[in-house]
Amino acid sequence: MALVTFSNPEYKDKTVYAVAGSHTETLLKLAKEHKIPVHHDCQDGECGNCLVRVTSVDNKARMGYHLTEKEQTVLRHLGKLTKDQIDQLAVDDMPSEWRLACQMIVRDEDILVEY
Ligand code: FES
Repeated sequence: MALVTFSNPEYKDKTVYAVAGSHTETLLKLAKEHKIPVHHDCQDGECGNCLVRVTSVDNKARMGYHLTEKEQTVLRHLGKLTKDQIDQLAVDDMPSEWRLACQMIVRDEDILVEY
């Protein structure tokens, strides 16, 4: 069970439980289930509207994650990651703090999501 805290300056923070490990539950799906207004449009990793910043809530090292080509392209286009940064994340097996909520699968870790 993971705790996901959604945070936005315009709304009260909301922490929800996520059943991690289904390999299908995206962050955007979780947000929608809990009526958290994360912006979105295509829901297919192409428009970049669902950009979020994801960090650890307890300073624990986050789980590594390899971004898909599609997500890498959008994050680069948005100016959030450079090619070098993406390559370094892969080498170090580290997750990106910038993610597309519609592409991020919730895992068994407690995270803070700024949207
Ligand atoms: Fe378009 Fe996520 S909703 S990239």
